[in-house]
Amino acid sequence: MIQMKQIVKSYDVGDEVLTVLKSIDVSVAPNEFVAVLGPSGSGKSTLMNIIGCMDEWDSGEYYLDGIPIHQMKGEELTQVRNEKIGFIFQKYQLIPTYTVIQNVVMPLLVRGYSKTEATILAMETIELLGLTERMGHKPSELSGGQQQRVAVARALVGHPAILLADEPTGALDSKTGHEVINLFKNLHKAGNTIVMITHDENIAKHADRIIRIVDGNIS
Ligand SMILES: Nc1ncnc2c1ncn2[C@@H]1O[C@H](COP(=O)(O)OP(=O)(O)OP(=O)(O)O)[C@@H](O)[C@H]1O
Ligand SMILES: [Mg+2]
Repeated sequence: MIQMKQIVKSYDVGDEVLTVLKSIDVSVAPNEFVAVLGPSGSGKSTLMNIIGCMDEWDSGEYYLDGIPIHQMKGEELTQVRNEKIGFIFQKYQLIPTYTVIQNVVMPLLVRGYSKTEATILAMETIELLGLTERMGHKPSELSGGQQQRVAVARALVGHPAILLADEPTGALDSKTGHEVINLFKNLHKAGNTIVMITHDENIAKHADRIIRIVDGNIS
C-alpha cells in the first residue's frame, strides 16, 4: 500500500539545513496496522505529512496504492489525497459550526458526490461508529471520545486506501484512548490499512508492527 524508498527531507533554518528524514525506506502492506513510534522531534509529523501527500520532500520515491506520488503535484496530488487518505488528528479538527452529519458528509461533497449519496454513506458510517443518536449535535456538545469517533467516521466515509492518524489518543484520557485503539483494531479486522503515529509505547504496542523513528532514521 505504501512503498517509500530513500526518502530525504530537510528544512532550511536560517542559513543551516536541518535534515529531518535521512534516506528512509518505509513499506506498509494492504490491511496492515502499523505504528510509527518515536520521541518528540524525531520526524514523525514530517513523515506523516509526506505519507499524507501534504508536503514535498527532497529526494526518493513514494508509491501509494501503486501511484507514483513523487511524480505528482498540485491539483493531481490534492485529488489523490482526497481519495486515498483518511486523516485523524490528535485534536479531532472537526468543523465546530457543523453538526456530526455535516462534518462526515463534507469530504464526500468535496469529492463530487451528490448530497443524497453523501448523506446515505455518511449515515451508514455514523451508525457503524455508534453515533446515530448524536447525528444532529455540534462537536462542542460531545465528549472527546465521541468527537474522535466523529473524526474517524469522517476519515472512513470515503473508503480511503489508508487511515492516517497522528497521536489519535493524545487528547484523551487513558480509558477513552483505549476505546479509540479498540476501534482501530476493529477497523483493521474489517480490512482497513492503518498508519498510526505516536510517541507512546503503550499505544504503539497495539499495532501489528512498530516502525521506530529516531533522529530521522528508521529501525
Ligand atoms: N516547517 C519546519 N521548518 C523547520 N524545521 C521544522 C519544520 N517542521 C519541523 N521541523 C523540525 O524537524 C524536526 C522533526 O519535527 P517533527 O514535527 O516531524 O517531529 P515529531 O516527531 O512529529 O515531534 P512531536 O512528537 O513533538 O510532534 C524537529 O527538529 C523540528 O524542529
Ligand atoms: Mg508531531
